[in-house]
Amino acid sequence: MALSSHIPTRVSLIDVGPRDGLQNEKSPVPAQVKIELVHRLQDAGLKEIEVTSFVSPKWVPQMGDNAEVMAGIERQPGVLYSVLTPNLKGFESAVDSRPDEIVVFGAASEAFSQRNINCSIAESIERFAPVVEAALAQGIKVRGAMSCTVGCPYEGEIAPERVGELARLMKQIGVQRVDVADTIGVGTPRKVQAAMEATLQHFGIDNVSGHFHDTYGQALANTLAALEMGVWNFQASVAGLGGCPYAKGATGNVSTEDVVFMLQGMGIDTGIDLDKLVDAGKYISDFLERKPNSRVSTAILNKRAG
Ligand code: HMG
Ligand code: MG
Repeated sequence: MALSSHIPTRVSLIDVGPRDGLQNEKSPVPAQVKIELVHRLQDAGLKEIEVTSFVSPKWVPQMGDNAEVMAGIERQPGVLYSVLTPNLKGFESAVDSRPDEIVVFGAASEAFSQRNINCSIAESIERFAPVVEAALAQGIKVRGAMSCTVGCPYEGEIAPERVGELARLMKQIGVQRVDVADTIGVGTPRKVQAAMEATLQHFGIDNVSGHFHDTYGQALANTLAALEMGVWNFQASVAGLGGCPYAKGATGNVSTEDVVFMLQGMGIDTGIDLDKLVDAGKYISDFLERKPNSRVSTAILNKRAG
C-alpha cells in the first residue's frame, strides 16, 4: 500500500512504562527503581513520561508510592511529567507533586468504566469535570484517556459512535487532548482508524494520540494505520511492560523500542536514542527478572552479545 502523504515527519512519544507498565506488577517495585527508570527514559530523549497515578492504593497498590516517586525525580527542562487522577481526591494529592499534566481516564464501555473506576461513564464525566476545571485554573495541562475504544473485555466490540460520544463529553468538560486506547489489544488497523476518525470529530489531529496494547501483536500495525491519518502522538511502554489490572489477560503497551525502530526506519524523527532506550528497558527488565517484551530490544541485545 502506498504510504499516505499525511505521514508526519516527527512523532512525539509518551513513555507510559513507569505507570501503565508497572501498575500491574504483583511484587512491589521500590520507588528508587521507578525513579531510576524515569531518569533513564529522560536520558534516552523521552520528552513526555507518564510517571504514576493518584488512585486508591487499595485498588492499585503498586502506585501507592506516587508522591515519593514524583518527589524523587530530578526533572529535566523540556520534559513533561504526567500523572493519572481519577477524581478530586486524587487531584488534590497530586498537586503537591507538581505534575505538568494530569490525566482523567474514562472508557467507551460501561462495563469497563464500572470495573476500572467504579462508576458509569456519565458519573465519571461528572467526577472529571471539577478535576479538569481545577487543573486548568492552576495552569496544569489536562489529557483524557479513553479506554476500550475498539474492544472491551466485558462487552466485546465497541462501536466507533461510542468512542465519538466519549470524546465529545471529554471535550465538553475542557479536556485538552485525548488518548485513543486499545486496552486489550484486539484492534486491527481499520477498526483503530474508525475509532480515531470518531475522535477526530471532536479533537484536532495534534490533540489525539494512540495508546495501543500489544496483546494480539497488532499494535505496530495499528500505529502505522494511525500515522497514515496524520496522528503524530503515541504512547508506548519501555520493554513492553504492563497491562491494566482491570483488563485481565491484557498485556503491555507496544514497546517503545519497537515503535522507535519502526519510526527511525521510516525516517521519522523521535528525538530518542534507541541504544539508551534499550538500556533503560534492560534495566527495569533485569530488576523484574525477565527479558524485555520487545522484539527490537531482544534483537539489539543479541547483536551486542554476539
Ligand atoms: P471508589 O471506591 O468508588 O471511591 O473508587 P470512593 O470515592 O467511594 O472512596 C473509597 C475509598 O477510596 C475512600 O477511602 C477514599 O478516600 C479512597 P476509605 O474512606 O475507604 O479509606 N479514595 C482514594 N484514595 C487515594 N486516591 C484516590 C482516591 N479516591 C478515593 N484518588 C476510584 C474509585 C477511582 C478511586 C477507584 O476505582 C480506583 O482507584 N481505581 C483505580 C483504577 C486504575 O488505576 N486503573 C488503572 C489505570 S487506567 C488504565 O490502565 C487504562 C489506560 O492505560 C488506558 C487503556 O489502556 O485503556 C489509562
Ligand atoms: Mg493502558
